[in-house]
Amino acid sequence: MLSRRRFLVSSGAAALFLPACGSGTDRSALLPADPAVAAREATRTKAGARVISRSLTAGPVDLDLAGTVVKTWGFDGDPVDATAGDILEVTLRNDLPEDTTIHWHGIALRNDMDGVHDLTQPAVAPGNSFTYRFAVPDPGTHFFHPHTGLQLDRALYAPLVIADPDERGDYDVEHVLVIDDWLAGTPEDAFAGLTSGGDMEGMDGMEGMEGMDGMSSGMAMSDLLGGHAGDVTYQTHLINQRPPEDRPTFEVPADGLARLRLINAGSDTAYRVAIGGHRLTVTHADGFPIEPVEVDAVLLGMGERYDVVVTAKPGAYPIVAMAEGKDQKAVAVLRSGSGEAPPIDAMPAELDGKLLTYSDLEPTDDVRLSAVEPDTAFTLDLTGSEAAYEWGIDGKTMDELAPFEIEEGQRVRLVMRNRSTMWHPMHLHGHTFALGDTGARKDTAIVKPDQEIAVTFEANNPGQWMLHCHNTYHLEAGMAGVISYVR
Ligand code: C2O
Ligand code: CU
Repeated sequence: MLSRRRFLVSSGAAALFLPACGSGTDRSALLPADPAVAAREATRTKAGARVISRSLTAGPVDLDLAGTVVKTWGFDGDPVDATAGDILEVTLRNDLPEDTTIHWHGIALRNDMDGVHDLTQPAVAPGNSFTYRFAVPDPGTHFFHPHTGLQLDRALYAPLVIADPDERGDYDVEHVLVIDDWLAGTPEDAFAGLTSGGDMEGMDGMEGMEGMDGMSSGMAMSDLLGGHAGDVTYQTHLINQRPPEDRPTFEVPADGLARLRLINAGSDTAYRVAIGGHRLTVTHADGFPIEPVEVDAVLLGMGERYDVVVTAKPGAYPIVAMAEGKDQKAVAVLRSGSGEAPPIDAMPAELDGKLLTYSDLEPTDDVRLSAVEPDTAFTLDLTGSEAAYEWGIDGKTMDELAPFEIEEGQRVRLVMRNRSTMWHPMHLHGHTFALGDTGARKDTAIVKPDQEIAVTFEANNPGQWMLHCHNTYHLEAGMAGVISYVR
């Protein structure tokens, strides 16, 4: 058996571009450098497409949390956005003390730009740079983050909004809300605490260790998530990197329609989001359009996005993102005209009103997959437990799991059965699947304990693609697999 290689931690050059295990078949994997990858990219690239060039540096940054300056790692540089049909060219400079990459979460991009260390590119070493260049085929609300170790649970993330060239623009203003769980210690220490079964030896005096107590005492339960909501307790929760004590205000013109793009960039927290006195018209799930549906609240697992449209009433209203099952929240204010700001601890009744569920989601006709029988199907058991902190698929970690082999042109069904004791937001790279056969298009789907979810996608983007739990700690523990195009 292969020695256990920690997912995404540097391995020898020989391991590059090879799926984790031998496939057990004679077919050959279509690797990121395969001409089929460039050929597919050519079909996405329009003659004369605009090239949007941006620079980013990943490095140590200071974050001002309501007057307390904390040191973390983040991105410095240009905001990254584009319009569908553009070519995005982003040069990443790595000023971190360790390897990094950028993954463009939600984008159906060329495989060699997907930013998965060891699978789609060599890691970018400290002091080095790498230029990502790819066509952006679809509009939508996405984000980007490293795909290396636990880096996402620092401040290494940013929104990535791809505008629609055919946008009907039937709203007056749009705002992006990136919600995140803020850890007091380092994610490495938090992970060490989780994997040592709560044995905190050598970690005395560290801040942010309450999470471990929370785990062992069985707190952080959520009916909505079917049990235990999270493993890590955070110091606070942020919207656009601001804690409740310094909450942001989102302005809307009088009687205006606001489009809010909600992104969960957290690592171990689902957020239930509502706005006092307002209903939410949900228009997009994970960037793709749905038939608009009106609800009081939405639940976002890590990696999920929803776009909602709100008709702002005059005055100032609380926007609350409840850390589901954790009794903490991130907050902001929706303001149209004058009026006193709501109290910081306001808890809108809407949080307990009609909650968006996956069965409310219907794709618009232009993005609905045609009804055809799948050519191939895989059933994946999501496995593991909090106690051992060993998360995987079919009882294996990514390193142990054989790739799921598919061919270009196939219709592929994945059935994910949660056989573990905790919910998992499962994310597929490079594709936007349909829920069920022809349901709403998404790239991340929550699977609760004992639940089974089927998703279907068109195999139209050759390469090696990760399928994984978007809980940063579950991913680090190995809860990931590779969808491998073969020929
Ligand atoms: Cu945002 Cu592999 O994921
Ligand atoms: Cu998980």
